[in-house]
Amino acid sequence: MDLGLSNKVAVVTGGTRGVGKACACLFAKEGAKVAICARNVERLKAVKDEIESLGAEVLALQADVSIPAQLKAFISSVKERFGRIDVLVNNAGEAVRGEGARTDEGWEDHLRQYLHSARWCCQEVSGLMKEQRSGAIINLSSVAAKRPREISPLGAAKAALNNYTLGLAIEMAPYRVRVNAVCPGIFMTPHRILAPGSVGERIARGYGMSSVEEALTRYARENTLIGRLPEPEEVANVVVFLASERAGALTGSYVIVDGGTLRFVL
Ligand SMILES: NC(=O)c1ccc[n+]([C@@H]2O[C@H](COP(=O)([O-])OP(=O)(O)OC[C@H]3O[C@@H](n4cnc5c(N)ncnc54)[C@H](OP(=O)(O)O)[C@@H]3O)[C@@H](O)[C@H]2O)c1
Repeated sequence: MDLGLSNKVAVVTGGTRGVGKACACLFAKEGAKVAICARNVERLKAVKDEIESLGAEVLALQADVSIPAQLKAFISSVKERFGRIDVLVNNAGEAVRGEGARTDEGWEDHLRQYLHSARWCCQEVSGLMKEQRSGAIINLSSVAAKRPREISPLGAAKAALNNYTLGLAIEMAPYRVRVNAVCPGIFMTPHRILAPGSVGERIARGYGMSSVEEALTRYARENTLIGRLPEPEEVANVVVFLASERAGALTGSYVIVDGGTLRFVL
């Protein structure tokens, strides 16, 4: 299926790991020009080389999305380099984990990393998309937005992001800009889901198991219809489809990509 992304300009925040990197590589394979940002310069360089080896034009710049001035500078550079932005994927974000997540600072950090960063980025890009009278924005949300099992700063921030997504879809509709959210369940990003304070650690504690990896395998087998955790590439497939012309009838939607999770633990 031709997704119609050839020569389009796709911006992916946090494009050096996990689903962001998978999206950037997939956009490149579809013939798009790609712009990515992240904080770690070495990983940016490595992913830039990898995307270039796929034959795509790529701009890779250091920027922390939770700092508005850095985000603004990143988007300005993309506009200068490519002259247009067809796709924006708001993917980046890393908030405090564990006990710190429920302090006032933790709550504020979650809102800054997962809601405000996306909002700021949309503000920087929406004027250009309105002028172009075309564009697609995809916000990486979470199933935690829909069904938290306990008080969840992450779930609350992502629920607010879903609400913002729908509001923006309404505002941008007259300009033929589509805005959607993808809500993944836990997927395979080992550095994130196996880390101390992560959801993986909580699941292992719940099972009374010492190996987080084995606990997640058991969790996936018992709680998802596909019997395993989705790979980042499987989430990216949905993001890239939503960015494409083929998804022309989809806006203001939340697409759940969780392998058919029966019980929610995030
Ligand atoms: N993994 C899951 O199971 C899961 C489940 C549901 C939803 N999600 C959501 O899916 C999205 C991607 O998750 P992931 O697991 O693929 O993430 P990941 O593998 O940890 O990758 C995050 C990417 O974002 C960058 N990043 C993080 N914070 C940043 C910041 N403040 N400014 C700029 N770049 C930043 C990272 O690079 P640097 O560290 O170099 O900045 C990296 O490139 C997130 O929004 C997450 O909340 C994930």
